[in-house]
Amino acid sequence: MEDTNIPTELTQFYAFLFFLTFLTHPIAATSAAPSTAHELLNGFTATPDSSVTSFQPLLSDSVGNYSLGFLRVNQTQLALAVIHVPSKEPLWIAGNGLLTQWSSKTRLSFNGSLVISNARTGVLWSSHTAGGRVRLSDTSNLLIELMAAADQNGGGPSILWQSFDFPYNTLMEGQNFTSAMTLVSSNGIYSMRLGPDFIGFYAKFDASSDPGHLYFQHNPMEVKARVMEGEGSIRAILSPDGFIGMYQNGTAPVDVQPFSSFQQPGTGSRRVRLEPDGNLIGYYWTRSTWLVDFKQVSDPCDLPSACGPYGLCQRGKGCSCLDSQTSYTSGRCVTGETTIAGDDPCRKKYKVLKRIGVEVPNKEIMAYKIMSSLEKCESACEVNCTCWGAVYSNTSGFCYTIDYPIQTLVEVLDDTKVGYFKIREGAGKSGTSTRLWVGLGILCGLVLLILGIGGVVLYKRERRGVKGYVEEEGVNGGVGPYKNLGSASFKSIELSGR
Ligand SMILES: *[C@@H]1O[C@H](CO)[C@@H](O)[C@H](O)[C@H]1NC(C)=O
Ligand SMILES: *[C@@H]1O[C@H](CO)[C@@H](O)[C@H](O)[C@H]1NC(C)=O
Ligand SMILES: *[C@@H]1O[C@H](CO)[C@@H](O)[C@H](O)[C@H]1NC(C)=O
Ligand SMILES: *[C@@H]1O[C@H](CO)[C@@H](O)[C@H](O)[C@H]1NC(C)=O
Ligand SMILES: *[C@@H]1O[C@H](CO)[C@@H](O)[C@H](O)[C@H]1NC(C)=O
Ligand SMILES: *[C@@H]1O[C@H](CO)[C@@H](O)[C@H](O)[C@H]1NC(C)=O
Ligand SMILES: *[C@@H]1O[C@H](CO)[C@@H](O)[C@H](O)[C@H]1NC(C)=O
Repeated sequence: MEDTNIPTELTQFYAFLFFLTFLTHPIAATSAAPSTAHELLNGFTATPDSSVTSFQPLLSDSVGNYSLGFLRVNQTQLALAVIHVPSKEPLWIAGNGLLTQWSSKTRLSFNGSLVISNARTGVLWSSHTAGGRVRLSDTSNLLIELMAAADQNGGGPSILWQSFDFPYNTLMEGQNFTSAMTLVSSNGIYSMRLGPDFIGFYAKFDASSDPGHLYFQHNPMEVKARVMEGEGSIRAILSPDGFIGMYQNGTAPVDVQPFSSFQQPGTGSRRVRLEPDGNLIGYYWTRSTWLVDFKQVSDPCDLPSACGPYGLCQRGKGCSCLDSQTSYTSGRCVTGETTIAGDDPCRKKYKVLKRIGVEVPNKEIMAYKIMSSLEKCESACEVNCTCWGAVYSNTSGFCYTIDYPIQTLVEVLDDTKVGYFKIREGAGKSGTSTRLWVGLGILCGLVLLILGIGGVVLYKRERRGVKGYVEEEGVNGGVGPYKNLGSASFKSIELSGR
């Protein structure tokens, strides 16, 4: 009697194992990267899958390092993006960061042009080409080529369109950056573009004209070659050897900015990105993580808004506020709407804040006028409706006027440098009610968080065992790398991207 029992249990065990493989196998096949197409041909269409919460791959390169697909941002929004698969880092977004409301009615199609359209709103973005196939290169360049591979009789496919010509916030290894291109930070505030003989970084804190004000400039060292007037515009390129090179039309660079991993052996891959704080950062892929190996602006105090509006940056120490009565503990200095687009200080009443021992960041490239006294400098700003503030140096007589909403100034141990700043009345006035709302918000957030954690724990308990494998695939685990996209000012990109 007991003998027959054991084989039955064993059979049940094997049956269970068989059941397990049967269950996990089709799941693995549909979620793993290799099942993604390597080219898209005429007639291709795809719509976002409502069960995907982060990234839905549609096209991958030959090795599977990079993938083109629908990127779901913040649950509610959608972008067409090329991501680095192992890190889930977005490298390119169609339409310079174009985001649309997530909708199953949004469609990506290829009919010669790659087209994102919506049944309700029509065409949102198009590559405007008449190509034969779409492919992703092993350097993450999205290519639209004339012919499908099968139709070619010798002769390489000719490239009609490449995403490398339309960068968003990132440059990849080997990607040419020319004077026709712009990098834009994900919050839409900062941009990088080439001048006749320099790399320029611009900030737009209000609705003033493009590209905003120049806050940092890199000039070529001209060691190996010089920039010659009338010999064509310059271009920059991120070299696999670990530097940003600037070239005119020769092969000798007019400038080289080496990274800390300069000429290190290895098969890493590199990218630089214009970050939401306005810095250009270089990253090096070590097969498991992206290491920072370059910062264009090395001292954060030289960034235009290191401590936010009305902040004061103390070199080597950190942030405080221009108004010494306000503490920086909340992470910012003024809780008003100081940066509203199209606003100017004259239309509303303002109060004045003065501070001794401050200067503008990167004053070497800021415009100034020479004035004989502090009073003259201040009153020139006072009567000017586009002026938000002025900084005067009593020793040199330089008067710097600031014609955009006040951001961060730099502390100097020099009492002859004095700042004059307009603060719009009403900014920070509703402080107590704001605090109440913030408090309520935090409370609600906490409750949601606790509910959320409870939910996840329950959910995990249910899924553990049979479907644990699916979670390992990280289909919905990409919270971290996408956080840069979730900033509130993304709307501005949506507008400018059209
Ligand atoms: C690309 O894939 C190869 C092979 O899997 C890997 O060795 C390499 O590190 C990957 N490169 C990047 C940038 O992910
Ligand atoms: C491709 O589709 C778009 C959007 O529907 C349309 O505007 C365009 O004319 C089409 N191109 C061709 C070659 O059919
Ligand atoms: C970059 O420019 C160089 C020189 O014009 C060219 O040879 C190279 O193919 C370009 N690379 C890409 C990816 O367009
Ligand atoms: C660079 O290009 C300009 C015009 O395109 C040409 O006149 C000049 O000779 C070129 N210089 C070199 C060094 O190739
Ligand atoms: C007001 O300031 C702006 C820049 O700060 C300047 O361009 C303009 O000329 C000034 N207007 C007057 C009337 O001084
Ligand atoms: C500015 O300089 C003048 C003369 O150079 C001097 O009389 C005055 O005291 C100085 N003011 C400040 C605030 O340092
Ligand atoms: C993301 O969601 C949060 C909460 O719903 C919202 O406050 C925020 O504005 C959203 N971000 C974007 C870019 O839509």
